[in-house]
Formats: sequence, C-alpha cells, structure tokens
Amino acid sequence: MNFISKSERDTFRFASNLAQSIKVGSVVALLGNLGSGKTTFAKGFAMGLNITEHVGSPTFKIISEYVGNPHNLYHIDSYRLEDENDFLKIGGEEFLNQKRGVTLIEWASLIKGILPKDTIFIYFKRLSEKSTRQIRIEGLEDE
Ligand SMILES: Nc1ncnc2c1ncn2[C@@H]1O[C@H](COP(=O)(O)OP(=O)(O)O)[C@@H](O)[C@H]1O
Ligand SMILES: [Mg+2]
Repeated sequence: MNFISKSERDTFRFASNLAQSIKVGSVVALLGNLGSGKTTFAKGFAMGLNITEHVGSPTFKIISEYVGNPHNLYHIDSYRLEDENDFLKIGGEEFLNQKRGVTLIEWASLIKGILPKDTIFIYFKRLSEKSTRQIRIEGLEDE
C-alpha cells in the first residue's frame, strides 16, 4: 500500500484513519530519515485512538504509554538505543507481544532482529517537493 502525503495534516489524517482499523496487538515499525514524518504519524495515530494527551519525542523517554479507546498506544523511540540488548534491558520485550494496544516503533531498524514476524513496516520518504512524503506500508493484512 502506497500513500502520497502532501502536507503534515495529510499524514496526520492518514495515520488517524489507519489507527481505527488496525488490529489490537499489532507492532508497527516506522522507518525513514529524520524529518520524514514518523512522529507526525504517531500523533495522528494517537488521535485515531482517541488519545488527547500530547504525543511527542521526549528526550529521555524511550517508551511512552497512552491510554486510548478502543485500545492503548505504546510509542517507542529507539533512536538512542545501540541495539536489541539495550531494548531488552529497558523492558521493551513486553510491548512486542501484548493485547492491550498497538505498539509504534520509531527507528525500528535498530532492533530489527527481535521484531515479531507479523510486524507491519511503514517506510517514510521525503520527496523532492518540500511538503510531500511517500508512505509505504508492508505487511498489513486485510481484515
Ligand atoms: N507531508 C508531510 N508529512 C509529515 N510531516 C511533514 C510533511 N510535510 C512537511 N512536514 C514537516 O516535516 C517534519 C516531520 O517531522 P517528524 O514527524 O518529527 O519526523 P520524524 O519523526 O520522522 O523525524 C515536521 O516539521 C513537519 O511539519
Ligand atoms: Mg521522530
């Protein structure tokens, strides 16, 4: 699945819609360069799960948990992790196999060795026009 976003708002709305259809327990890996739209996507996704709390990229927090409806959101930013071992040390494993929410992981390539087999991969890419992003989804099953 391929989506061309023309604005920050487009990305936000795309993510919000996706959040309403995605299965609880899903692990979603967000991949792409700095400024490609991963955190914007996470914010829109939170909106789709009726989360009003601010979702961002806190400097010292790697795992953030938000209570949502119909399910929770676990937002993980692996940017400051070295590798899979770092992730396991901070208790990340529980968010790879749970049934209370959806886990979104930014910079998931750092922990690719331990991602579940059914992980959904979303690739973000800046296109030549300033506010245009390509968002490509792999591994999303039709329900
Ligand atoms: N189509 C778009 N989708 C998402 N962000 C966009 C888009 N166009 C411009 N932007 C800007 O790009 C930046 C994306 O930042 P962010 O979502 O934090 O990226 P990342 O988490 O991948 O580093 C924001 O400043 C946002 O305003
Ligand atoms: Mg980010």
